[in-house]
Amino acid sequence: MIRRLLPILFQSLTGFLVILLLWLVSHLAVTHPPPGPIVCTTTDGPKPQCTVTNTYGAFPDRTICHVGNVTYPRTEDELVAAVAAAVAARRKVKVVTRYSNSFPKLACPGEVDGTAISTRWLNRMVHVDVSRRLMTVESGVSLHDLVRDAAAHGLALPHSPYWSGLTIGGVIATGAHGSSIWGKGSAVHEYVVGMRIVTPAPASDGFAVVREIDADDPDLDAAKVSLGVLGAVSQVTLALEPMFKRSVHFVRRNDSDIVENVAVWGGIHEFGDIMWLPRQRRVVYREDDRVDVSLPGDGRNDIIGFRPAASLLLLASRAAEEWLEERGSDVARCLASHIMPATQERLGFGFTNDDGSVAEFTGSPLVGYHHNIQSSASCMGTLHENSRSHLLSSSCMWNARLRTHAFYNSGYSIALSCAPAFVADVARLRDAVPAAFCQIDSKMGLLMRYVKASSAYLGKAEDSVDFDVTYYRSYTRGMPRAHADVYDEIEQMALRKYGGLPHWGKNRNFAFDGVVDKYPNVGDFIKVKDRFDPDGFFSSEWSDQVLGIRGSPVIFGDGCAMEGLCVCSDDSHCAPEKGYFCRPGKVFTEARVCSLGDAAGGSRVGNDLTDA
Ligand SMILES: Cc1cc2nc3c(=O)[nH]c(=O)nc-3n(C[C@H](O)[C@H](O)[C@H](O)COP(=O)(O)OP(=O)(O)OC[C@H]3O[C@@H](n4cnc5c(N)ncnc54)[C@H](O)[C@@H]3O)c2cc1C
Ligand SMILES: *[C@@H]1O[C@H](CO)[C@@H](O)[C@H](O)[C@H]1NC(C)=O
Ligand SMILES: *[C@@H]1O[C@H](CO)[C@@H](O)[C@H](O)[C@H]1NC(C)=O
Repeated sequence: MIRRLLPILFQSLTGFLVILLLWLVSHLAVTHPPPGPIVCTTTDGPKPQCTVTNTYGAFPDRTICHVGNVTYPRTEDELVAAVAAAVAARRKVKVVTRYSNSFPKLACPGEVDGTAISTRWLNRMVHVDVSRRLMTVESGVSLHDLVRDAAAHGLALPHSPYWSGLTIGGVIATGAHGSSIWGKGSAVHEYVVGMRIVTPAPASDGFAVVREIDADDPDLDAAKVSLGVLGAVSQVTLALEPMFKRSVHFVRRNDSDIVENVAVWGGIHEFGDIMWLPRQRRVVYREDDRVDVSLPGDGRNDIIGFRPAASLLLLASRAAEEWLEERGSDVARCLASHIMPATQERLGFGFTNDDGSVAEFTGSPLVGYHHNIQSSASCMGTLHENSRSHLLSSSCMWNARLRTHAFYNSGYSIALSCAPAFVADVARLRDAVPAAFCQIDSKMGLLMRYVKASSAYLGKAEDSVDFDVTYYRSYTRGMPRAHADVYDEIEQMALRKYGGLPHWGKNRNFAFDGVVDKYPNVGDFIKVKDRFDPDGFFSSEWSDQVLGIRGSPVIFGDGCAMEGLCVCSDDSHCAPEKGYFCRPGKVFTEARVCSLGDAAGGSRVGNDLTDA
């Protein structure tokens, strides 16, 4: 065995060193533009030249979003003035957050002279009412600061995404969540009880007004998950809970009963989630429950993927990954796929005990304060605006400027009642193409989290399981990815066979095809939008496409399916010149994916497994 693997390892290592060297030679001299989603080449003169992207430096369609004006309001009055100026000039407007973590083209006004309003400096706490447990914050406050400041007052935001480098405005606009179907569930917007939002107005009202929406205003069901199309959110009021502690324990098991467990685990544990490594046939069940604050313990969670890493190391590991993905073999990829899960386990999945030592989840559970466990973003500490990241500095795994790790993240939720059948189908696909799942394992597999049905018009209609998969993205358009057909089949299966809802802040274009038809209350949402912003200043090409108002989020053209912009219906949507043809899925035969194979026959395993 070892003798067989050595040459492969050696081959990988040399390939990787050569790439690293080439990279260093070609990039060391380059001056990198400043980080953050807004980049301006000139700020003086009558017309600044600015672009807006997301934190990854590229939207799924890889287009460049130009804007004609960027403003950085520091108060609500300045926010009103910024909206009024755009409306008076009849320009499209979008709110852009400090780092813009969403993948889709949400933040682009979609018009060359559109206006970007940054919430970078709308980042203050406004008011805390400890006795009523209410906290009001400006919309650009980061989740990290919000959770920390609430804790300082003995209060807890009961649920949140696991990554805290987000802003409250962005989190609620996209329906972001943690994991729970207890109480009101895991979506942050369920805890919103008031908002102040700046909307366009007639000239007689000064072109912009502040609307105050309180807890029993039905408009709140539109404003909570708004995709940013109702106006600029100025402030958000959240209903918090007294600080509590959590007890966390990871249970490692094989995956023979994953199908039965997926629908019930969230009912057993308030913060339960499930991490499934399909190729390794292993499951890590998170037993995570609220416990009394008097219980001893000060454990913490510093999620490994969100820790800072030295840029040089990141570049090296990216080069290795590029090599593996684009030139490596299944054997090499499957070998490499053990690194991340093993590292996670060695480091206690990021948890540390009271004394800072790595937590071991073999014995008793770890106990700690909720705010030290719910989310983390320690890599953000080094990503200050205008400070230049360089090769010797450290940063988050992704850094568009240094071209470290680029990835996609697909996230979709499937109704609890359908989740077991979906998981069973994924297991069948795994049995058909085991090697493809090595790559899924290498990025910590499928994360399953629970989200509760919501009254928000663009929230979940039913109690659901949210599935999350992270995977490699090339910096080159149309570059084939190993086993991309399997990833695409899983996504099409989730969205089309099981009626899955794509996360508004994740996914590639094709996932949003016909998405509004899955939201029974979208009509009510559009009514509020038409009342708040009748001329659609806050609407963009993208928001009109996903809301079914105009056009489609799908982009057809040569190679579109290689980039997730379409589902292929013709070989030209794949890359026939590179050997990729449009083929049915292996388990979900209605899927259409770009598979490597000969033009006539289809992929080797294709047909024998259709009714496995
Ligand atoms: C590493 C990482 C981990 C993640 N983990 C999770 C997770 O655990 N759970 C989860 O659900 N999601 C997760 N996400 C996705 C993330 O929650 C969403 O992408 C989130 O919406 C991004 O927030 P943001 O502040 O960056 O907003 P942006 O992406 O910048 O903005 C999103 C939308 O909101 C609008 N918007 C923002 N602020 C305002 C405002 N004040 N007024 C009007 N419109 C506004 C913007 O215009 C845009 O349309 C993760 C993302 C990353 C990068
Ligand atoms: C940009 O916006 C500011 C205020 O929001 C306004 O004063 C300025 O004239 C605008 N510039 C352009 C080029 O539109
Ligand atoms: C999976 O684990 C259970 C015990 O948790 C055991 O009974 C079963 O045999 C295991 N299955 C496989 C395939 O290893």
